[in-house]
Amino acid sequence: MATKVVVNIPGEQPYDVRIGSGVLAGLGSHVRSACGIEGEGRALIITDSNVAPLYRDAARDSLKEADLRVRDIVVPAGEDSKSLSVLGEIWEAMAQLGFGRDCVVVALGGGVVGDLAGFVAATYMRGVAVVQVPTTLLAMVDSSVGGKTAVNLEAGKNLVGAFKQPMYVGADTGTLATLPDREWRCGCAEVAKSAVIDSDDFFFWLTDHAEAIAARDPEAVSEAIARCVVLKADVVAEDKTESKGVRECLNYGHTLGHAVEKLAGYGTFSHGEGVAEGMRFAARMAIDLVGASPEFAAAQDELLDALGLPPLDWSASPEEMLDAMKRDKKARGGHVRFVLPRDVGDWELVEVDDATILAYLRKWAEEK
Ligand code: NAD
Ligand code: GLY
Repeated sequence: MATKVVVNIPGEQPYDVRIGSGVLAGLGSHVRSACGIEGEGRALIITDSNVAPLYRDAARDSLKEADLRVRDIVVPAGEDSKSLSVLGEIWEAMAQLGFGRDCVVVALGGGVVGDLAGFVAATYMRGVAVVQVPTTLLAMVDSSVGGKTAVNLEAGKNLVGAFKQPMYVGADTGTLATLPDREWRCGCAEVAKSAVIDSDDFFFWLTDHAEAIAARDPEAVSEAIARCVVLKADVVAEDKTESKGVRECLNYGHTLGHAVEKLAGYGTFSHGEGVAEGMRFAARMAIDLVGASPEFAAAQDELLDALGLPPLDWSASPEEMLDAMKRDKKARGGHVRFVLPRDVGDWELVEVDDATILAYLRKWAEEK
């Protein structure tokens, strides 16, 4: 049985997120109805070289059964595909294949494919429909919902992008069976982030089910995904373009996390490992700066441990870390901002001065 969450963002067409094992089999009919396709329609599956051999046939078969004409483009797996050159190749291929404004782009894969294909759909012929079919835990709980799309530049990640809401999201939890452990833990960090931001209810539920989720128990995993999607839908409905100081909450743990990923060298630690480390760091700052309790930080530590996200045995010089944080696109006017939880479900976006950040970074590095 699939769970359905409706994402209802002011000014956008509402869309369904279906979560459950076997959801992929119904892709074609949901694409047809969500995109309002009557008569002949055309779909382009964009996927990557790891996902294509596993799930492309199932996606293609379902789309064909719904009488859609289907082509696909397979990009190399990995972050490097979120590039201007791959983007340009896809635009050219679509034009060569004769895709018009009435086509649907189907993003089949993790966040890399979702961001890339979403940006293709936002820009090809000034915008065509996109459907997200996430196959990583991270993509199911975060990137496939909410409409952020992007490619990377040499100068940094996600520097060119657009907001492009999907018409439908089909999260087939059966696809998670083939996800490598490292990618699993990466998604778990975003689940933990969502629970801390959301509420006591989600946080304590997750604490109780952390071991089941680390062990990939299907029922617990589906419920965790649905809870994350409900939170994300609510946040995005309130602040679609991250301009009202609300959507920033989804960046909890990311300020230090991005700096860790960058300075350790992309790929050394997964995005999730960086985020988990960033959550531990932010919780410690929060004790002094916004009155969080040490018990909150300890409960979060235990949750991250149980999800298989222990503290990193790595550090860099505080000055380099601060410099990386200042260069992040989430900094404003050279000032670094942190999402700091006062408690579970209660957070503040705080601009922290350099001297204070350096003091915490020194402590962080000394404890390694
Ligand atoms: P990813 O897309 O690179 O997927 C991770 C790896 O898993 C890849 O090697 C992929 O080929 C493989 N894979 C995917 N599904 C699989 C499956 N079912 N079985 C086996 N292997 C599978 O990485 P990700 O963690 O999903 O996404 C990271 C990207 O998402 C980053 O580029 C990040 O910037 C972006 N992101 C975007 C948002 C947003 O709101 N748009 C939010 C968070 C992250
Ligand atoms: N992943 C953060 C956001 O969608 O805003």
